[in-house]
Amino acid sequence: MDATPSYPLNAWYAAAWDVEVKRSLLARTICDRRLVLYRTQDGKPVALADACWHRLVPLSRGHLRGDEVVCAYHGLVFDPNGRCTHMPSQETINPSACVRAYPVAEKHRFVWIWPGDPALADPAKIPDLHWNLDPGWTGDGRLIHAKCDYRLVIDNLMDLTHETFVHGSSIGNAAVAETPFDVTHGERTATVTRWMTDIEPPPFWRAQLGKPGNVDRWQIIRFEAPATVVIDVGVAVAGTGAPQGDRSQGVEGRVLNTITPETGRSCHYFWAFARNYRRNEQALTTQICDGVAGIFREDEAVLEAQQIAIEENPDKVFYNINIDAGSMWARRLIDKMIAAERPRVVASAAE
Ligand code: FES
Ligand SMILES: [Fe+2]
Repeated sequence: MDATPSYPLNAWYAAAWDVEVKRSLLARTICDRRLVLYRTQDGKPVALADACWHRLVPLSRGHLRGDEVVCAYHGLVFDPNGRCTHMPSQETINPSACVRAYPVAEKHRFVWIWPGDPALADPAKIPDLHWNLDPGWTGDGRLIHAKCDYRLVIDNLMDLTHETFVHGSSIGNAAVAETPFDVTHGERTATVTRWMTDIEPPPFWRAQLGKPGNVDRWQIIRFEAPATVVIDVGVAVAGTGAPQGDRSQGVEGRVLNTITPETGRSCHYFWAFARNYRRNEQALTTQICDGVAGIFREDEAVLEAQQIAIEENPDKVFYNINIDAGSMWARRLIDKMIAAERPRVVASAAE
């Protein structure tokens, strides 16, 4: 692990899609911490450090007995709080025998974990991804394991100019790269807004709208520190008032992204696409999901190559141009969270 981590620990991170956490042991590394995830018999998710108290064998190699994990090596048993409840060949259990249990919560189809100070783990701070479950919306998503720093994924999402160049065959067209955008920010959020009015829609959006003619297209990208990006996207028949708030002649979606650092150079990228039109068409859900997965594979190839180049050029820095305004704000907010966690220099004698 680097001396200065690239991520804050006092934050909720998506550890898994809800369906991934089952009545079996799932090993996953989050923020350089190896975890084992499972559900109790009544469905509650659990996250424990994935190293047995006794001889550090990964608990994920063991098995579940009821709500407890049995280590695969010498059979020590740990409960969902990480406390050892059984040791072979002895009556009294060493009271210090425990593994760390992490705060866990389930919300909006993800299992979230808080790797930092448990006293600060307030479930109200879980990022808002309600579109994943809202009855007014439908959609689905996937998980990508990307071999790059999670911040490169955030940079990528905060600047959709790249669509023109990376995704030219589906969602990108010249209008995206040519249209100026606005950036605003708050304490924990940064928002990039781009309206492309009276343009010819790219193939994906032409098909979603199902009408000929030009459109007004929007991309409103909202970053919530440290690692969640919700993109409000859509098109409406040109001139029908979408920029003023009337989207009734359009179709809209939300690209939901939350990116969890695995290590300093790899991440778990959870994404979903939710829409509020043609909600009963499962075939469309699958088709969009496959389409977006293909688009994100194009990003992944660029980002993994970028990660390798960054490591090969340790003496080089990034240069920022206009299109980087959104990602610069995102990184500033992440840096602020990391700085807040740095141990304070011991107060001087004068104080
Ligand atoms: S290493 Fe787990 S019981 Fe010995
Ligand atoms: Fe992309």
